[in-house]
Order: sequence, then structure tokens, then C-alpha cells
Amino acid sequence: MIVSKTELKNNSLAPEPEPVRRDFQSARILILAVGASAIVAILFYFWEMEPMPRSMRRWGDLSSLVGIVVLMMGVSIFLRNWLTVARKEIREMRSAARDFLFLLSLALFLFVAAKGVFTFLSVTPGFSGLASSRIYAYLIPLSALAMVVRILINFDTAIMFTVTASVLSTAAVSGRWPELLFLLLSGIAGICVAGRILDRHKMLRAGILTVPVCAIAAGALEYAFSGGGHAFQACIVGVVNGLLAGPIALAVMPVAELVFGYASDIRLMELGSTSHPLLSRLMTVAPGTFHHSLTVGTLAEAGAHAIGANSALCRVAALYHDVGKIGKPQYYSENQAGTENLHDALSPGLSRTVILSHVKEGVKMAREAGLGDRVVEIIEQHHGTSILYCFLNKAKPMIQDRKASEEMFRYPGPRPKTREAAIVMIADATEATVRSMKSPSSTEVEEIVTGIINRAYLDGQLNECEMTLRDLNTLGEAISHVLIAITHRRVDYPASGSGLADEDT
Ligand SMILES: [Fe+2]
Ligand SMILES: [Fe+2]
Repeated sequence: MIVSKTELKNNSLAPEPEPVRRDFQSARILILAVGASAIVAILFYFWEMEPMPRSMRRWGDLSSLVGIVVLMMGVSIFLRNWLTVARKEIREMRSAARDFLFLLSLALFLFVAAKGVFTFLSVTPGFSGLASSRIYAYLIPLSALAMVVRILINFDTAIMFTVTASVLSTAAVSGRWPELLFLLLSGIAGICVAGRILDRHKMLRAGILTVPVCAIAAGALEYAFSGGGHAFQACIVGVVNGLLAGPIALAVMPVAELVFGYASDIRLMELGSTSHPLLSRLMTVAPGTFHHSLTVGTLAEAGAHAIGANSALCRVAALYHDVGKIGKPQYYSENQAGTENLHDALSPGLSRTVILSHVKEGVKMAREAGLGDRVVEIIEQHHGTSILYCFLNKAKPMIQDRKASEEMFRYPGPRPKTREAAIVMIADATEATVRSMKSPSSTEVEEIVTGIINRAYLDGQLNECEMTLRDLNTLGEAISHVLIAITHRRVDYPASGSGLADEDT
């Protein structure tokens, strides 16, 4: 066990509840809920409003206004509770405002699309004669949007979105049970097939996998609730819905990434190529940092894989975590091979300013390069609020108050807020420490990794992410395993050999 029970009990660095911040968040959630419900209510009002004389339209219909107010209050309470539960219960749903606006946009888009398509097909002569108008409700592309939410946020949020959007979209078309059940089933089918999707072909294939569910659900529900008259047509409409799920999800995802700053796994795979301009620049300007980032990427990927975190995100974020060093590469030890240490000529305070700046610079460069919020957040959090011991110790002779100086030599944070950010932090620290040693033994590597994890834990660096003690143990083992494999010494071969074949042994 990495941390003893006594240490766990005595860990005074665990964050205290922050009542003021919580009040602020509750108020923000309430404002969001009221705003969103106003949009929904206004949409319903204008859509359902009967044509009325001009004079009446000016002042409105009083009963409709009362209806709007009641609807707003109801939706507000529902959304407020929805958000509060989501923030408490759903892992990784921390950016409430962004996620909420995204989900609301999707739900409203679905509502408008459902109402628009349903109305259009019902009144267009060519289509209205083909089938009963209610059949077209089975075209609502909830499965596609549920896939997008699962890919961009997570499974739990996608389930909550499916339930909410099903109710809203059913209200938009007819308010009948078969449509509601169809939407729930097709949405859940979309969520189930959209696991870890790493390329666009897999997205299209996932969409096709929803076809059987959509077709059977539409046909069976139509048969059960309205008799067999239009069951076959409903089945065909269900097939069309399933076939369109992949293309619609592919079309919506880049827009969501652009507007809301998400980075899907497909995007991450593109960013993971070392031919990306930012990585190419890092390779040319700071080859030491580039090599360090590649190794941290391997360690973080292995660690994430071991504890079931997002390994693609860890690898890509690790590749970019130190891009902020591009501006002043010569001030970082990994780029100083054979050259003098520039910090020898600087005061500890000045050195601190230079080193700390790479996080801020990295965040700026990552934003400019459009790497997406998930990568940017990890760059921002990869040192947490840890202490620059090297320069703190150098400043020791001039220090009066050690405690105050420790605070001065801390990174500004924030501390890792996700498991992925914590993994990159630990992979980064272990790689840097092990690299500074000459041929460490396996036991030494294991001790270093355990020591770094313990120190991060006891310093409170892991207090804001969802890491369990079991995760930390498994992560430590995975990182040690890879580090030992990387640092082990090769067997010396006789100089007479060609050396070419030996490279692969
Ligand atoms: Fe760094
Ligand atoms: Fe680093």
C-alpha cells in the first residue's frame, strides 16, 4: 500500500468544503436553469400559439402567458436538480456551464429538427401520402446525438441527455408513448455502440450497428400501439434513422469541437502525430524536451491503460505538456547537454519566474493551436501547486521564513482535476527524476515512483481528482514497469560484431 492508514487519517491537506464557492455555483446553476427554461418555454409558446388577431397578439393571450410562467418554473426546477445531481454524481462532469450549454444546444436542435421535419413531411404532398404522418417521428436522430455526447463527455451524461431529449422531442412531435419509447431505445443503442471510437470509419460502423435496434423498435412499437397497418413502414423509417446516425454524428462532432472546445478521441489521434506543427517545432527547438515528452507520453499511456483512464488523452496531453518551453529551451535541464547551466548566473527568484512561465506559455500556445480544452487543462495542471525544490534549496541561505518561501516557490496550479491530469503529472515527475540518474536498478526505479506518488498525495496534489488508493498503486506499478524496461542496460556485445543485427536483440 502506497499510503498508510495513519497518513490517510492525518492528511490535513484534504480540501475543506468551500461554502462561498458552492453558493456561487448553486446560483450559477439556477441562473442557467432559468435561462434555459425560458428558451424552451418561448419556443413552445411560439410554436403552439394559434393565429390570433393583431390586437390580441400585441398584448398576448393571458392564459398562454400563465402557461409559459408555469412551464418555465417547472423546467427550471427540473434542470436545476438535473445539474446538481450531474455535478455530484457524474465523474468528470465538472465544467457545468460548458457541458450544460452544449447539451441544451443539442436538445434544442433536436426539438426544432423534430418539429420542423415532422411538420414538413406531414404536409408535403409527396410524403404525406406515403405513410401516416406519425411514422416520421421515428426519423428523429437522437441515437446520433447520444453517440456524440458519449464520445465528447461520457456514458453517464449521455444517458441523462437521452432521457431529457426524448421527453422534449416527443413533446415536439406528438406526445405519444411509442415515440418516447423509440427515442429512449434508439438513444441508448447509440450510447452503447459509441465506446472508444478512434477513427471516422468506426463512427460510421457504430451508426450502422444501431440499425437493427431502430428498425425492430419502430416496427414493434407501431404494431403494439397502433396495429399492424404501418408497422412495416415504421421499420423502414427505423432503418433510415440508423443508417443516418453515423453521418449525422460525424457532421455534428467537428462543430461541437469548434464551438465548445471539446476534443474527441478522433481529434486526439490526429493531434498525436509528431508531424503536428507544434510538435515539429518542439523537436527542432528543444530536442531534449521533445524526447522527454515522448517518454512521458509512453508512461502516461501505460498508466492510463492500467487504471482504465483515457489513454489517448493522456498520451496526447503528455506530448504537448511542455510546449511552453519552446520560448526558452536552454533554461531547462533536458536541453542543456554539454552546455553551461544558465541558472548558475541567475538568482533563485529569477530562475523561478523563468521555470514557472512554461506552464502559462504552454497553455497560450495550446489554445492558439486549437488543441481543445481537455489537453489545455492538463497542460495547465501538470505541475499542480508543487514546489520547485531545486530553487527553494538554492535560496535557503537567504531565507528567513521557510514556510512563506515554500509558498513563493510553488507553481500557481490548479491541481489536477481529472485522473488523466494526475497521471501526466506523476509520469512527468518520475521520468524527469529517473532520467537524472545513471543506470538505476529496478528497485531504485520502484522506490522513486512510489516516493513521487506518496509526496504528491501528501502534498495534497491529488485531492481534487478522482484517484483512489488502488488506482495509485496500479498506476505506480505500470509506470515502474515501463521505466524499468526503458532504463535497463543492454548486454554488452563484442566490438567485432557488425552491430546491425544487435540493435533488434
Ligand atoms: Fe512542465
Ligand atoms: Fe515535463
